[in-house]
Amino acid sequence: MRGVFITLEGADGCGKSTQAALLADALGARGREVVRLREPGGTQISEKIRALLLDPANADMAPECELLLYEASRAQLTRQVIEPALARGAVVLCDRYYDSTYAYQAGGRGLDEALVRRANLLGSCGVAPARTLVLDLDPALGYARATSGGADRMEAEGLAFQERVRAAYLRLAAAEPDRVRVVDASGEKNEVTARLLVELEDLL
Ligand code: TMP
Repeated sequence: MRGVFITLEGADGCGKSTQAALLADALGARGREVVRLREPGGTQISEKIRALLLDPANADMAPECELLLYEASRAQLTRQVIEPALARGAVVLCDRYYDSTYAYQAGGRGLDEALVRRANLLGSCGVAPARTLVLDLDPALGYARATSGGADRMEAEGLAFQERVRAAYLRLAAAEPDRVRVVDASGEKNEVTARLLVELEDLL
């Protein structure tokens, strides 16, 4: 049996981490092995790259350097953790994957879309999610939530950046409706989890 690869996406402060935990519990209750991961991160090397990427002291990081670091972190996670987990039949639930790179580095930063797609192919080692759930929330609300305790290097880009990120996610969902589903992230957290599960029914 092959596993199922599911990714959670959304702008900063959309409630992804909370939903990843709730969704992992719900899927685990169905008797599946659930491997919960986050990007960038999830391996020793990838966590070190994460620290570099989010450190506000690295404000002068070039967009191309940023892109390649996200891809480097992803390649390590994919080879070391995601591929083996899928091979043994687990459900892999990853908080962000290459659609974040499309939304943030192409949408937010304005890097060339075709270039970002090629980089994503390399960074993901060709491993694609079966389903991607985009948690959609008013960016002003999400941004206020994400930055209430201080902003990391990405969050420091501001609200207009988050609005471009959201627009990129919505474009992606329109282009790939089978894989990418937009889910309303407003309201009570258990209601949001129920909405996410509806979008996974056919896979599980
Ligand atoms: P997190 O706060 O959801 O853990 O994600 C870390 C930050 O990195 C978040 O602001 C989104 C950003 N990011 C990108 O810009 N490109 C990517 O490819 C990934 C995975 C995350």
